[in-house]
Amino acid sequence: MPDNDYTIPPLPSSYRAQLSDAEFARLSAFIYNVAGIKMPPAKRIMLQSRLQKRLRELGMDSFKEYTEYLLSERGKQEELIQMLDVVSTNKTDFFREPVHFDFLRETILPAHYQASGARPIKIWSAACSSGEEPYTIAMTIAEYCRIKGVQYDYSIVGTDISTKVLKMAENAVYKMDKIEGMPLEILHRYFLRSKDRANPTVRVIPELRRHVKVQRMNFMDETYPINETFDVVFCRNVLIYFDRPTQEKVIGKLCTKLKQGGYFFLGHSESIMNMSLPLQAVRPTIFRKI
Ligand SMILES: C[S@@+](CC[C@H](N)C(=O)[O-])C[C@H]1O[C@@H](n2cnc3c(N)ncnc32)[C@H](O)[C@@H]1O
Repeated sequence: MPDNDYTIPPLPSSYRAQLSDAEFARLSAFIYNVAGIKMPPAKRIMLQSRLQKRLRELGMDSFKEYTEYLLSERGKQEELIQMLDVVSTNKTDFFREPVHFDFLRETILPAHYQASGARPIKIWSAACSSGEEPYTIAMTIAEYCRIKGVQYDYSIVGTDISTKVLKMAENAVYKMDKIEGMPLEILHRYFLRSKDRANPTVRVIPELRRHVKVQRMNFMDETYPINETFDVVFCRNVLIYFDRPTQEKVIGKLCTKLKQGGYFFLGHSESIMNMSLPLQAVRPTIFRKI
């Protein structure tokens, strides 16, 4: 069959839709207002390629049409959450920045266990993404109990703005590359392996899953819909996407949910320097509420 019987099919116009400077300015201002996420001009191409998929799904040909829909009352109801799923950066890992989990196991848990008479410890993983952080916290506590031979109840709340990652956190199913390098005995104790050899995955065991509850929460909300206070708050690798005044405001609000003497963790490249907050540094990126 001769090749000239064939032709290259035209790409649907949504693949070619270009995000103009004007549309980018409208979209980035909107994203900053609703989610606090900074979108500097260098991110225009990234935003364009991430949103082209949404345009295809919605059958739209241009960013103008998409922006108008998103900013309409109907769009704010129907599209906002989808758009935030697309624009948020969800990179995370099990045992990411391991010094934090060492500190939890070696300093916080023994002190809390002793002082509280085994009262359950409550931990908030704020911006938990797809769940690796809250399940790492759960594994750390479970290991502490196993090694010390103690019974110690705990609850972990994981929150995030993105419903897509929260669904993944709830399912607790992960591809094999996510557990690469994890010690074998941890894998054996805390993960189940899928029977599907063609598409192997692991799932966190139910004994850990039952301690972790997830809910959607936007740091930009005026008040945080969480009616409890925590012994420990993890808020790592999310504030880098916000400007300094927003960071200070968000940490201030998170501190209202942290018990006095409770611990607060930031990501390794984040800092509270020159912010007026009720936190005292105990290690780099680890703070205590005063
Ligand atoms: C890079 S991940 C960090 C995950 C985890 N804390 C870690 O350190 O591995 C950042 C998370 O912050 C979430 N996020 C971004 N803006 C947010 C907002 N305004 N409110 C709540 N979560 C937000 C994103 O959806 C994403 O899952």
